[in-house]
Amino acid sequence: MTSTPVIARTRDELDAVLKDARSPDAPLAFVPTMGAMHAGHEALLREGRQQGETLVASIFVNPTQFGPGEDLSRYPRTFDADLAMCAREGADVVFAPEPDQVYRDGDPLVTVDPGPLGGELEGRFRPTHFRGVLTVVAKLFGLVRPDVAVFGQKDYQQLVLVRRMVRELALGTRIVGVETVREFDGLALSSRNAYLSPDRRRDALGLSHALRAGVSAAADGRVAVLKAAGAALMSYPGLTIDYLELRSPDLASAPEAGEARLLIAGRVGAARLIDNLPLTLGDGSEE
Ligand code: PAJ
Repeated sequence: MTSTPVIARTRDELDAVLKDARSPDAPLAFVPTMGAMHAGHEALLREGRQQGETLVASIFVNPTQFGPGEDLSRYPRTFDADLAMCAREGADVVFAPEPDQVYRDGDPLVTVDPGPLGGELEGRFRPTHFRGVLTVVAKLFGLVRPDVAVFGQKDYQQLVLVRRMVRELALGTRIVGVETVREFDGLALSSRNAYLSPDRRRDALGLSHALRAGVSAAADGRVAVLKAAGAALMSYPGLTIDYLELRSPDLASAPEAGEARLLIAGRVGAARLIDNLPLTLGDGSEE
């Protein structure tokens, strides 16, 4: 059954609708998004529906997480379709503010410092990105006050940093991570896939192919993983790799053996795409 969610455009509207929608002893689940929704967002909404008695989604293209020259002005906006998806997945409230509602005092002077991890991996290529992400997530948590919030593993570094922020700032929201949703051929769903022509889309497949090649070499250890992933990338000359890194699940250095994460980012034409997969490293001794 679908019913139309209540749309809140302002903080006051959100407060008013949450006063009615929140039940005192049942959890409120929150799914923050920038819209242009696809099956990845849908999986998050579905998880949120399971986690909470009340489900709130936000649609807000957050300017402070885009760097100069990035795609803020052309980021896809599909509000009507997004709203229909939120309705289908049983959201009670959709918070869809304009920037002046979120940043009421203009550019924020107080922001969340993501710490050293904010300057690694994605942060090397987008130095102000995670400060913008964590600041808006903290702000949205303050406005919605969720018991549970749902994030995708697709943006793995974001998920790790949000968990760390919640723990270190004692924000009290439980964070749930949802596995990456992919197309039939392995391409991770992303709002930015809308930028890809069919040719570019073929180049973009190199990201997930490299990850899968790396994962299949996991039993042979770290060097073998990076070698296999690197070899797979040779078939994708149209893809420019920004990084291919093996890390621990919390994004410290990769262990010799055991649970790890392989992360990749690259550019195809003007589109910048990221992906990652979990893997279990062997110690390479079972040749
Ligand atoms: P956005 O890119 O819209 O993503 C919203 C959420 O959907 C994130 O938690 C992201 O990891 C998840 N997601 C995207 N693609 C996915 C896929 N293929 N499978 C599973 N989950 C996927 O991430 C943001 O927005 C912003 O940074 C935000 C957290 C909203 C702060 O502005």
